[in-house]
Amino acid sequence: MDTKNNLSDAAVANAAADDGDDIANRKYPAVPMYGPCNVRDLKPGTVKYWCACGLSRRQPWCDGSHKGTGIKPIRWVVPESQSLYQICNCKYTKNPPHCDATHVYLPTEVLHRKATCENKSSHVDTCKLCTQCGWVPDF
Ligand code: FES
Repeated sequence: MDTKNNLSDAAVANAAADDGDDIANRKYPAVPMYGPCNVRDLKPGTVKYWCACGLSRRQPWCDGSHKGTGIKPIRWVVPESQSLYQICNCKYTKNPPHCDATHVYLPTEVLHRKATCENKSSHVDTCKLCTQCGWVPDF
């Protein structure tokens, strides 16, 4: 599977913003959950920050845990009165913060990337996130 073509726009945007589109320095987020969060009763006009690194303990929203990863949260203004939003919690959607079903085929891709990560030998020394593959210590 070609993981490059399966990257979400959010992941690509994070990589491009930090590293000038250098594929070798692309950043992969952690996957908190392989499926969306159902979020109800958001007030239109409210500003939310969607966690893009996958490390927040307040999923799907940012709690500042991205600091030091080079991945930044995505600002989202709640657009309209809607009773239910399905917010991406795998962090690989192509339409953040909304789930676009990318999570369906993601587990195989993530397992392969972690197993073949060039940085694998130093994962135990990684304090919070290996952005080369998305590896994190147990939550
Ligand atoms: S939870 Fe991320 S695309 Fe569905």
